[in-house]
Amino acid sequence: MSKLLSVVTNDRPKLRRTDPIDVAAYLQARIIGQDEALWEIIPFLEMYQANLNPMGRPAGVFLLLGPTGTGKTRTAEVVAEALHGSDRHLLRIDCGEYQMEHEVAKLVGAPPGYLGHKETQAVLSQQRLDAVTSEHSRLSVVLFDEIEKAAPSMQRILLGILDKAFLRTGDNHPVNFENSVIFLSSNLGAREMAEQTRPQMGFAQSQCEVPGDKLHQTALHAVRKRFSPEFLNRIDAAVTYRPLSKEAMTAILEQQLAALQQLVDLRLGTRTVLLRYTAECREFLLKQGISAEYGARELKRTVHRWVLQPLASLVIQKRIPAGRRVEVGYDREEPGTTFKLLR
Ligand SMILES: Nc1ncnc2c1ncn2[C@@H]1O[C@H](COP(=O)(O)OP(=O)(O)OP(=O)(O)O)[C@@H](O)[C@H]1O
Ligand SMILES: [Mg+2]
Repeated sequence: MSKLLSVVTNDRPKLRRTDPIDVAAYLQARIIGQDEALWEIIPFLEMYQANLNPMGRPAGVFLLLGPTGTGKTRTAEVVAEALHGSDRHLLRIDCGEYQMEHEVAKLVGAPPGYLGHKETQAVLSQQRLDAVTSEHSRLSVVLFDEIEKAAPSMQRILLGILDKAFLRTGDNHPVNFENSVIFLSSNLGAREMAEQTRPQMGFAQSQCEVPGDKLHQTALHAVRKRFSPEFLNRIDAAVTYRPLSKEAMTAILEQQLAALQQLVDLRLGTRTVLLRYTAECREFLLKQGISAEYGARELKRTVHRWVLQPLASLVIQKRIPAGRRVEVGYDREEPGTTFKLLR
């Protein structure tokens, strides 16, 4: 990274751009508790937006490390959402599907004349890249999720992409990654990092308790054992996501409850109901949905199980008149949620 950019990163610039979209503000509002990681990524997105990204290489290549359920995959989704208006504009390669060498070959497709050429359209084709762009931006967001699961030959394919932003498919078509931002996510080192944070049972007490640098070094150590230096040298930033603090988890719960209200409004239309939550209910949902081990991964499912599903039963039994406010509480006798109509 240039000197200028590293100064900008360290100074944590205040949000300053609204044109074409303030990606920094968008990301920070949605990815909670990971500002250090976000500020490694944001300058590259801004360089692209300013049309000042270097030529002959992808707009940015990021290795996202750290414990499970802390927002690595979600970051790529939110970048796609910020640029294109929907997280569907993401080309996601689930590396768990490419554990065998012959599976990795599907990424570029078979050469003409080879058995199965017709059926094996390259997964990494120019059309697939273009399909995830939009009228808002030409930048495609590509996520290679859980790269440690892929067979070793995936590293060779990635080397070409990261180095020259270029790939040739089996049927000899060029694929250009200059207008792509590439995220590589990995759980390497997550077990060792969990050991370092384990003394803080339940929630990570505070994001400062285990120094970020120490977790980062642990993650990098595991990554260096697995990937070659040439590969790692082509990455713009390796960022380590932190275990989420209780404050961060609480903010994520609020996000999920707001998203649930949006869904209810959208689906019920004029019959919508306004959901309110007691403090005890919020605490219950947090306890159920969050653990130091799985991060925020279970939170959405918990909100579905304890709020959305019982609400759906009440709606089909016509027990909630349209337009009413409903208080979602916590039942201590029989642990679970309660629903009360408010005046
Ligand atoms: N920092 C965060 N901010 C907002 N939501 C988050 C955050 N971390 C996790 N979540 C929520 O938890 C879900 C799971 O997170 P995500 O898929 O990003 O985990 P991950 O870090 O990729 O984990 P894994 O290593 O297991 O793949 C997300 O879809 C999102 O709803
Ligand atoms: Mg993930």
